[in-house]
Amino acid sequence: MSVNKEIKRITVHILQAMKKRGEKISMLTAYDYSMARILDEAGTDVLLVGDSASNVMAGHETTLPITLNEMIYHASSVVRAVKRALVVVDLPFGSYQGNSRIALESTIRIMKEAGAHAVKLEGGVEIEDSIKRILSAGVPVMGHLGLTPQSIYKFGTYTVRAKEEAEATKLKTDALALQEMGCFAIVLEKIPAKLAKEVSESLYIPTIGIGGGPHTDGQVLVTHDMLGITKDFQPRFLRRYLELFDTIKDATKQYINDVKTGDFPNETEQY
Ligand code: KIV
Repeated sequence: MSVNKEIKRITVHILQAMKKRGEKISMLTAYDYSMARILDEAGTDVLLVGDSASNVMAGHETTLPITLNEMIYHASSVVRAVKRALVVVDLPFGSYQGNSRIALESTIRIMKEAGAHAVKLEGGVEIEDSIKRILSAGVPVMGHLGLTPQSIYKFGTYTVRAKEEAEATKLKTDALALQEMGCFAIVLEKIPAKLAKEVSESLYIPTIGIGGGPHTDGQVLVTHDMLGITKDFQPRFLRRYLELFDTIKDATKQYINDVKTGDFPNETEQY
């Protein structure tokens, strides 16, 4: 199915209508202006300014170190590039957990200073107060269940979540609770496809999967993984559409060679 050109600007209501009519939702991460322009022009429905910027852009091992100021910088660059996509911004670790007033203050900064359209928070019923307070200010909230990387030190590994019945049951309860609270969509990360299907079918709001199989209402990938800019990360769920690490490296080697040999710049590449 090609991009729906009738849609001028994606809203949370359009995403819910897409679920209703069985149209899959495409979501990718974006952290900077130039890449966001390309992804938006291609017709990506949702651009997520993910806290994966902590890994991909800053080289940290986890998503925990990225700050609210850094997220606002990335988000404002993305928002300036976008004409059609809905821009969702991750609330970073420490900017919402355990204190709904801080959660609202963080959200207001993201909405005012970056011009974002919605925020995403990791977790279920334990962050209900924060979600409700953000929603009461009129800001759309996307949930995130399953593998929630901000809790990596609690999990211990990045392996598939909710394989055991108790965790699967909690995830199903959390998904319904997030819907009940008023979230407009939920990311389901790295859970069994069967569970993702069951959860997606139990909700009227869309689910966006990453490593959750084909039955979620949409899919998301980290753009740098999808384009092969990152090289060492090869989980089973990832499909690489390019090998840009090697392409860019080869082009760079060619440039270096041209500089060293005096081939660049030539007669037409000067004033
Ligand atoms: O930060 C991120 O990129 C994410 C996606 C993997 C869903 O949360």
